[in-house]
Amino acid sequence: MEFVKPEDILDIEGIQADFPILSREVRPGVGLVYLDSTATTQKPIQVISKMDDYYRMANANIHRGIHTLAEEATALFEEARGKVARFINAPSEKQVIFTRNTTESINLVAQTWGRAMLKSGDVIVLTEMEHHSNLIPWQMLAAEKNLQLEFIPVDADGYLDLDEYEHLLNLGPKLVSFTHMSNVLGTINPAKVITQMAQSSGAIVLIDGAQSVPHFPVDVQALNPDFLVFSAHKMCGPTGVGVLYGKKTLLDEMPPFLGGGDMIKSVELRSFSFNAVPHKFEAGTPAIAEAIGFGAAIDYLQYIGLDRIAAQEQVLVEYAIERMSEVPGVTVYGPAAKDRGGVTSFNVQGIHAHDVAQILDGDGIAIRAGHHCAMPLHEKLNIPASARASYYLYNSISDIDKLINSIYRAKKIFKI
Ligand code: ALA
Repeated sequence: MEFVKPEDILDIEGIQADFPILSREVRPGVGLVYLDSTATTQKPIQVISKMDDYYRMANANIHRGIHTLAEEATALFEEARGKVARFINAPSEKQVIFTRNTTESINLVAQTWGRAMLKSGDVIVLTEMEHHSNLIPWQMLAAEKNLQLEFIPVDADGYLDLDEYEHLLNLGPKLVSFTHMSNVLGTINPAKVITQMAQSSGAIVLIDGAQSVPHFPVDVQALNPDFLVFSAHKMCGPTGVGVLYGKKTLLDEMPPFLGGGDMIKSVELRSFSFNAVPHKFEAGTPAIAEAIGFGAAIDYLQYIGLDRIAAQEQVLVEYAIERMSEVPGVTVYGPAAKDRGGVTSFNVQGIHAHDVAQILDGDGIAIRAGHHCAMPLHEKLNIPASARASYYLYNSISDIDKLINSIYRAKKIFKI
């Protein structure tokens, strides 16, 4: 089969040169092949330098001081918010709330909107392919408020069963919360259809964009979710900063989450009034350098082009599935390459996923092994664990060739 090479779409070598870590050796003589971007991505020098510059030249607390540094730091932080807003085509920067990560964003919605709006017996619809961030906050709320959790099933090929979803909507759920792209199967779910169906039945929609926003263009005005959440560290940015996007009317109605400085308008000893969004949800000193680094990551991704990144990942995942399927005893989970992003979870018959990962690490290849924070999905697949190779803009066909060679080496060691 003839493949378009990712190199035909992107200058992979040039991109790799932007990521200092990719030129390190894992041990003497063994270069790094990084195939764990679904867990966290590597950071380009543009992001690292931006954060370094901030600490060297503009470090100060924001929204508080009137000195030059404070004003510069505030401007850089708010500029980053604007970059995020434009990246997802949000109607207003005020709809972008900085949190710590996807998990915190979902907890924020559960603990504010969920606590205020849901009552005993209300139904929440999730899917069987959620990672723990989009399960546990709802399980905690369900236990507290006696809510009913329902799940859109995943079929044997890794697609959501939309007929069953239609039945679940007859229960009149108040919320439908689902992952845009599975971190295990790679399935890209039909977010617009799921959202429209939910909203026509009166439900609020939260899209978990942790794996979609970094990998292909996501436009909140086109998809129209009520909430969208994602993390900077999965899109070339630093850890410690994530996003909650929400519709303005909902954000205005929701009570605050954490209490403290910056989220208040005025304070008396026994009472306070709270600030407008987004500040209402940003109590305390935020991750300033990280938000600024996030802005630089967005600049970087836009410079490369999200469409081109998506096209390159498509080529990589197609090639990976083709090569893996040729290896006797290897099972790849999930849908056809055309319906997934750059994720391939797999097992090698007779070798535990952890052993596969350890042997691959010997060759400098970093993959993840285990349940990938999605234990119920692994139960559904009837496997205790899987090995997962995931791809991003800095990966090449030769990375996948090395992966395949190393899988053969694992089989040889285990005499399989
Ligand atoms: N959800 C992240 C992963 O899939 C942590 O690895």
